[in-house]
Amino acid sequence: MTAQPARTGAPAVAGGGGAPRHVAIIMDGNGRWAKKRFLPRIAGHRAGVEAVRRTVETAPDLGIEVLTLYAFSSENWKRPADEVNDLMGLLKRYLQSEIDELDRNGVRIRYIGDPERLSADVRLLLDTSVARTAGNGKLTLVLALNYGSQDEIARAVRRLVADGVEPTIEAIEARLDTADLPPPDLIIRTSGEQRLSNFLMWQAAYAELIFTDDLWPDFDRAAFERAIAEYGRRERRFGGL
Ligand code: FPP
Repeated sequence: MTAQPARTGAPAVAGGGGAPRHVAIIMDGNGRWAKKRFLPRIAGHRAGVEAVRRTVETAPDLGIEVLTLYAFSSENWKRPADEVNDLMGLLKRYLQSEIDELDRNGVRIRYIGDPERLSADVRLLLDTSVARTAGNGKLTLVLALNYGSQDEIARAVRRLVADGVEPTIEAIEARLDTADLPPPDLIIRTSGEQRLSNFLMWQAAYAELIFTDDLWPDFDRAAFERAIAEYGRRERRFGGL
């Protein structure tokens, strides 16, 4: 029924109905989830990790091949140092405690974003996880860390200039962090906010966008299934008729 996209902007699905190959999620609302319960923000992020676990487990059942999670943006460094440390700590603990199961379940780990500002121990953990799971094929889990689209595009253009290459769409795409990934078919943002916040802006050219009111820690299998069903009802034309 469908030709799979080789690169951003290439038609993936002539009409709706099929499962999205690549789903990307802006996990928003951890802080509000905690506030509603008179808990510190870290409690919301901890509950957010549980939602990450559930979502990664559910994705292959929904026919998804690539799942990208916006875990830490290049702007999130503006948060108080304690919260930044908490988020990095949660990421480390997630990778340390889940890596065996992720590997057993055929999950391949990748990350996008500028690794330069990540601490050496986070980078080591990420690189080890990427190397260990490189042969897995059930689901590619892409963690966006110190990621911002504008920064990604600027880095790609700098490489282009250094390579002395003509700035075509293909040449830019080949230098994005997502170069060897299909473009997202569906971007979900939780918590009722309706913006991309510097996430996959180039790659989102033809993505369907779904905004749900669920706060990220409340995002469960049923919410995920509803989003995928809504995607199935969308008609994708990629600029054609
Ligand atoms: C947005 O909620 C969420 C984040 C900035 C971080 C997302 C991180 C996690 C879910 C945990 C670590 C990730 C992994 C992959 C293990 P917010 O704090 O902006 O919420 P608010 O808008 O309600 O304040």
